[in-house]
Order: sequence, then C-alpha cells, then structure tokens
Amino acid sequence: MKDKIVIEDFSLQYSDGVESLRNINLLIRENAITVIFGPAGGGKSSLLRCLNRLNDPAEVKTTSGRILMGEKDILDEKTDVISLRRRVGMVFARPVVLPFSIRGNLTYGLEVMGEKRRSKLDEAVERSLKQAALWDEVKDRLEEPAIALSGGQQQRLCLARSLALEPEVILLDEPTSGLDPISTAKVEASLQELKNEYTIILVPHSVQQAARTADFAAFFLQGELVEYAEGKTLFTTPSDKRTEDYVTGRFG
Ligand SMILES: Nc1ncnc2c1ncn2[C@@H]1O[C@H](COP(=O)(O)OP(=O)(O)OP(=O)(O)O)[C@@H](O)[C@H]1O
Ligand SMILES: [Mg+2]
Repeated sequence: MKDKIVIEDFSLQYSDGVESLRNINLLIRENAITVIFGPAGGGKSSLLRCLNRLNDPAEVKTTSGRILMGEKDILDEKTDVISLRRRVGMVFARPVVLPFSIRGNLTYGLEVMGEKRRSKLDEAVERSLKQAALWDEVKDRLEEPAIALSGGQQQRLCLARSLALEPEVILLDEPTSGLDPISTAKVEASLQELKNEYTIILVPHSVQQAARTADFAAFFLQGELVEYAEGKTLFTTPSDKRTEDYVTGRFG
C-alpha cells in the first residue's frame, strides 16, 4: 500500500502559546480510511486544517517539520493553496450548503474553475451524488433549493460537493456528528466505497465509529500521537495503556 501523505516531525504552536501538536510522525496510506481520534482538544482538527492549509496564519505562531504529498511540502509557502485545496477536499461537522439549488451546489466549484460544458457539469453532478449515496433521493429535484434537504441529506450534499472536484484526498471532521443513525450509516457506507478511489482521513464522532470505519487508526491525546496501527489491531489489542483506557471507555 502506497503512502499518500507523509507527516514528519510536525509540531504546531498557536499564537497564544498553546502547542497543539508535538512531533507528529504519521503515514497516511492511499486508498484507505485513516481515522484520527481521541478526546477533545487533542489536536485532531488542527491537524486536518494543516493538511489543506485552512489554519488562519494569524492564529498560528510556528509550525515545524514537514507534511509531504508527493515530493512537495504542503507547508511550503510556495505551495499554491487553491490547487492544494482542490486535491485535498474537506467536509465539516455541520453541513454548510450554498444558497443555490442542489445542482448549483455541485456545479459551483467547477464553474468557478472555468468549466462551462453542460455535459461535463451534468456528469459531475450525477457521479458525485451517486458516490455520496444521495442520487436516488434527489435525482428528480435537482433544481430545488439545497436548504430544503434534511440535515443528513445536506451533509451528503457537502460530501458530494467536495467529490465533484475530484480531489485525491478527502478530510472529514466529525461529518456525522449531527446526523441520525440511518444517515450516519449511509455516509459510512459511502466512505467504504470511496476509499477505492480516494484517500480518506476521518475524525470520527465516537470510538464506535472509529472502530467501524478504520483501516488505520491514530490515537491523539493532548497534542501527541500516542499510537498508530491498523484499525483491527488498535481496537482489539492496543499496545499503549492510554489507548486501551480510551477505547474501552475508561476515559473520554
Ligand atoms: N485557532 C486557535 N487558536 C488558539 N488555540 C487553538 C486554536 N484552535 C485550536 N486551538 C487549541 O488547540 C488545541 C487542539 O484543538 P483542536 O480543535 O485541534 O482539537 P480536537 O482534537 O479537534 O478537539 P475536539 O474533539 O473538541 O474537536 C486545543 O487546546 C485548542 O484550544
Ligand atoms: Mg475537532
């Protein structure tokens, strides 16, 4: 299995002096789901934001180390952030749909990039909705406002919106935290399909979700990577006592 992203000795300190990530070394495998999990404040979202440079530079004091994707360091100031974000898509905890139609939400990014051909846009709409397991529910109402969708549907629309741009990596930060169990199951099922084509990094909303979805899992505690292993190993026979305590529910 190939490495898609290589995180080397990465540390991040915010302007208020908080060191939120310390000496992180982590390989993100291609075509797999890597779960980043652990208690609140551990640095999970901070790390995801670094992967597509969403951290506000005014809030970050220093970073050190490297985050390599291919030969290039994502953190390099010469990195073109727009094309990076096209390659590394992000889906947040709360769905943020644009005030357009369902279709318009999906074509917006492509149109901004200059795609005008109706056939290409239609193709992207259908493909991305199918990949996000939403097509059957919305195919007859693509021109309706996206805001009229249920929360679970909006979240899958946000996933579809990032897929429409054909990224290589998809970052998901607690994408199902506001969803009912049925919508959650749909999102999890589509992630299992998507990993065949994409590299997926997921911050799950629970340990149970982590265990269900992880091909690889990284346990973060207070800015440190405590343990990294294949999911089936980490959740059954963790090697660090702190991981064990957390996955067995002794602290949370
Ligand atoms: N913009 C910021 N400026 C200063 N400190 C920050 C900023 N963002 C996060 N932090 C701090 O960095 C630490 C890690 O936060 P982060 O949001 O990455 O954790 P998390 O693991 O995603 O937590 P949660 O499970 O609650 O989402 C926390 O101590 C947090 O207060
Ligand atoms: Mg977070």
